[in-house]
Amino acid sequence: MKNVLVIGSTGQIGSELTMKLRKLYPEGNIVAGFIQGAEPKGILLESGPSAEADVRNGQMLADIVDKYQIDTIYNLAALLSAVAEKKPLLAWDIQMNGLLNILEIAREKHCAVFTPSSIGSFGPETPHQGTPQDTIQRPRSMYGVTKVATELLSDYYFHKYGVDTRSVRFPGLISYTTLPGGGTTDYAVEIYYAAVKGEEFVCPIQAGTYMDMMYMPDALKAAVDIMEADPTRLKHRNSFNIAAMSFEPETLRKKIQEHIPGLRMRYEVDPVRQAIANSWPDSMDDSCAREEWDWKPSYDLEEMTVDMILNLRKKFGLAQMNNLDHTLWAP
Ligand code: SER
Repeated sequence: MKNVLVIGSTGQIGSELTMKLRKLYPEGNIVAGFIQGAEPKGILLESGPSAEADVRNGQMLADIVDKYQIDTIYNLAALLSAVAEKKPLLAWDIQMNGLLNILEIAREKHCAVFTPSSIGSFGPETPHQGTPQDTIQRPRSMYGVTKVATELLSDYYFHKYGVDTRSVRFPGLISYTTLPGGGTTDYAVEIYYAAVKGEEFVCPIQAGTYMDMMYMPDALKAAVDIMEADPTRLKHRNSFNIAAMSFEPETLRKKIQEHIPGLRMRYEVDPVRQAIANSWPDSMDDSCAREEWDWKPSYDLEEMTVDMILNLRKKFGLAQMNNLDHTLWAP
């Protein structure tokens, strides 16, 4: 991995992954791909090349691959689960037609491709506890349908054409840099923002609904490590279960209240998100990722909570608020 195109570089994952790749591969071209209306700004724009990269325009992608001699494509363009339910045709167009464009370019120009899958690739018939690597995948959401199809199409291109496709099934991702947009697990990010700003949090997911979650630094590490993994050890490719923590809204509320006792939360359950959440695993078994490429997360709920609060307070310039435990401010 040297010259990399990150498609969706201004999104929740892309904005941090692009910067991480630029630090890891300073000699390479790490191109921040964007769509109109979501152009990179600030450090993301200034620290390396960027290019418009709409997945629905194959020629546009091919030109970038040629210009920067791209060897690896991170395909992070997607509508998340709740938005995809509102715009299923657009979700299909971006997630499937976009992927096909990328895989065709990868086949012709010999690029490796990472397209994330998700806990959303599972459905109501999937075993919810200790969800195995290889199990029933019959999702009911359009997001999930596109994620299963992504896994299958990516494996197809590997087996038929030898395209080096690899992937992980991300849990809900929690981060302080860029907000997710329209996912079922977004509540687990938004609650931290509300807590730090001293606002009441209105939770759209019912108490008792467990889902897998992960702190962004672990997700970025997974995205890099799977692409760097020794291919001879990989029995799976698209896509690996990876897990770090599993919780439900009350667990998260109590954990944040250990640090910000004034956090107020009430429920206003969103039926669309709740139905999706009910169909997803409570906790995935990630033993194949651990065996085949040494996956291991670093952050648990406590460590993530401390880091999220610290960084959101910095972001909002709120150092003195919320009766902060001063140990959080140790350099
Ligand atoms: N975070 C995603 C969503 O909620 C799941 O992969 O849609």
